[in-house]
Amino acid sequence: MIQQDTTHDLRRFWHPIARSDEIGEDPAAFSLLGEALVAFRVDGAPSVFRDLCIHRGAALSQGRIDDGKLVCPYHGWAYDRTGACVHIPALPEGAVIPKRARAWAYPVREEYGLVWVALEEPEAPFPGWPDDAWTDPGYRVFCAGTYEWNAAAWRVVENVLDFSHFNFVHKGYTELADGPQIKPYEVEPTADGLAYVYEDGKLRREYTLHFPFVVHDRKRVIDPDGGVTWSESGGSRAGDVTILTFIAQPMDAVRTRIYAFVGRNHSLQAQDADFAAGFDTIMEQDRVIVEAQRPELIPPDLREELYVLVPDAAAMAYRRLMHDYARPANDAAGPELPARAPAPRKQSH
Ligand code: FES
Ligand SMILES: [Fe+2]
Repeated sequence: MIQQDTTHDLRRFWHPIARSDEIGEDPAAFSLLGEALVAFRVDGAPSVFRDLCIHRGAALSQGRIDDGKLVCPYHGWAYDRTGACVHIPALPEGAVIPKRARAWAYPVREEYGLVWVALEEPEAPFPGWPDDAWTDPGYRVFCAGTYEWNAAAWRVVENVLDFSHFNFVHKGYTELADGPQIKPYEVEPTADGLAYVYEDGKLRREYTLHFPFVVHDRKRVIDPDGGVTWSESGGSRAGDVTILTFIAQPMDAVRTRIYAFVGRNHSLQAQDADFAAGFDTIMEQDRVIVEAQRPELIPPDLREELYVLVPDAAAMAYRRLMHDYARPANDAAGPELPARAPAPRKQSH
């Protein structure tokens, strides 16, 4: 039995619970951080509640929508879109409905074709997109796929941050052009996460992490001759930018849904399918590795896994962020961290 990850206040961040097209007018069940949720739309606007009727604990996702109200399947209590119970059929006409008769409604945002929820007052800014690609008409961004892995979101995101596995796991698809040896690179803190740049002579990759689970990999073609990866192949020109984005939804401690996006400022006339085609293969190559990682939860003590200073700089920085965001109660008995790595040499760009 896997323990729930209780060391992080992940409830205080925005997380997606579904793609926009997965939430319609009928109530449906979703899962976030081990919590069962029900989502539905009234007049196009999504509402998300805990999937629990306060009367006798029935699952509201088994209910139905009637006149814009979510009606519990068990005794017919009707909740409006704010979660207030507005009708209890068993009470006489005009009877006062107790104030406590409410569904637990969560703050909701609909952005980037996803519906996002914060289970507690969010503490971090809402994640953005490099180059404002969603609003810049020079870019085309689309969701290339949705994947569900039996793995912790931490492990999933760490895999996305880690480019030193490319030449092994993605041989022939997205290898570093100058080989597996990793040159020193610098990981910079940002207002809501971290950022770093890595160049392999053919591509400049700019990674940004919006803590905890949103990663952008902005790739700019430096030299289109050879060394292309699947998303740049075919007629790439210097200066072309492709942004791969991975947003992880922690369904529970060891199940993660991943929304993968491709953005590009080139080949705008081409079919999106051409750019989505390689994604399933790449993701499957990663899934096999990540689902088999043990322990499933990233060990709280950094000393339990071995870091090599230069290639694992991003992973180390990510794990430090995990510790920085850990619950204060946990810090008291917190793990001892290995000495901070010496600042790597700056790369000249
Ligand atoms: S359990 Fe929902 S109305 Fe009774
Ligand atoms: Fe990978």
